[in-house]
Amino acid sequence: MKARVSPLRKPVRGEGLRVPGDKSISHRALLFAALAEGESRIAGLAGGDDVRSTARCLAQLGVPLLRGDGTPWHPKPRSSEFPDDAEPTFVPPQRPPGSAPLPERDADMQEDDAIVIGQGLSGLREPLGHLDCGNSGTTLRLMTGILAGAQVEATLTGDQSLSRRPMERVARPLRQLGAAIETSEGKPPVVVRRGHLLQAGAIRSEVASAQVKSAVLLAGLFSEGETSFTEPAKSRDHTERLLRLMGAPVVQRGSTVSVRGRATLRGFALDVPGDLSSAAFLIAAALIAPEGSTLSLDHVGVNPTRAGFLDALAMFGARLQLELGSAPGPEPVAKLTVAAQKLRGAQLDGDLVLRAIDEVPILAVLGALAEGETVIRGAQELRVKESDRIAQMAAGLRAMGARVEELPDGLRIQGGLLRGGAAIDSAMDHRIALAFSVAALAAREPCSISGAEWADVSFPGFYRLLRKLGAEAEILS
Ligand code: S3P
Repeated sequence: MKARVSPLRKPVRGEGLRVPGDKSISHRALLFAALAEGESRIAGLAGGDDVRSTARCLAQLGVPLLRGDGTPWHPKPRSSEFPDDAEPTFVPPQRPPGSAPLPERDADMQEDDAIVIGQGLSGLREPLGHLDCGNSGTTLRLMTGILAGAQVEATLTGDQSLSRRPMERVARPLRQLGAAIETSEGKPPVVVRRGHLLQAGAIRSEVASAQVKSAVLLAGLFSEGETSFTEPAKSRDHTERLLRLMGAPVVQRGSTVSVRGRATLRGFALDVPGDLSSAAFLIAAALIAPEGSTLSLDHVGVNPTRAGFLDALAMFGARLQLELGSAPGPEPVAKLTVAAQKLRGAQLDGDLVLRAIDEVPILAVLGALAEGETVIRGAQELRVKESDRIAQMAAGLRAMGARVEELPDGLRIQGGLLRGGAAIDSAMDHRIALAFSVAALAAREPCSISGAEWADVSFPGFYRLLRKLGAEAEILS
């Protein structure tokens, strides 16, 4: 499906907007709640396709999932922007015999919230078919850690994009703990075999990765003793925060984190913050919009281990107002307000890039519109995301008229104006679809983005929201 996005002609204004719930936190909330004793209530869950993949897999493992209104959770059809042809069949949860009674309907919960009936550390059932993780690397990698720890045999698969992504980075450390895991030449399908009780252990990873770290810590929950994970630099810590909320003994020392296994995990109530990675596209759109544009976003997650985007904006010379919220919860949230302004080129690398890894595509767009040169380094992980994001950004920005050099671990961009008038392909990658849709708002000529429906992976309703803000963003079939 194709989107046609035209340059903005007049200022945009938006006050108190909400972006979808944080994808990383939503996956974890569902997965960890499934391992808890008792029920968990999750408000503001991300509505995109990725989190639905996690929900579907959990349902196949016998975990009862309910909507906030107490009805069984059937994922919604795709957003009305995109017809519903690719919707996979949802396997409704079957409650194992002897399950605890379902909670009463709770008037405070919204239809979009979720209730998960935890099965404890030994309650997952072997799935009937393959666990289809769709486009979601987080689902596949975290689930592998859980299944290995729980001794549940299963085959995890994904779509064409996920089937190209590296899985040995998860399989290898789990094997070190005693798991029997097969990959297909390092890629999905990933097969987890039963019958290998895991031992606690100390894992050292060459790559800083929250998904690998989480898979190891989740596996460690099932073994006697302490399992630790050391990475070259500290990746996002949503897992640690949520496990602590559930009562797991998690200790952080530098870039080593450890968990003691076999603790009872308590069910929890969580209000998922808005996704800074989604907010980044709207913030960028406001920054590069015509003078006089302003935008404020409420309840956005600003966890410092992944808020590098905000630091990067400062390096572009952008001013942004951040008002920290006071509501209790494991994750910091803030109201973010931004106005259109001139940007200057920036040098982005090191720890900042790790903390902004998912925002690099939209930072590259800002670089192409800023005055002077922008260099992004240390982003080699982007080569193995939903697409090779370095190559996709270089090719797309060039097609829009920018001067871009592709580096092994990043991009060198000569900023200025974007001509536009280009036909861009999303490469089955939501962040590529979203980044180029924003770029098109500030180009001289309209652009078309094919595969625009991939935006639904993290930001359902994105094009509708752009139109609400006054942009011309049509969906063509
Ligand atoms: C994620 C971690 C990051 C990020 C991804 C989501 C997570 O990947 O890029 O979009 O939810 O743990 P890494 O595992 O490579 O850090």
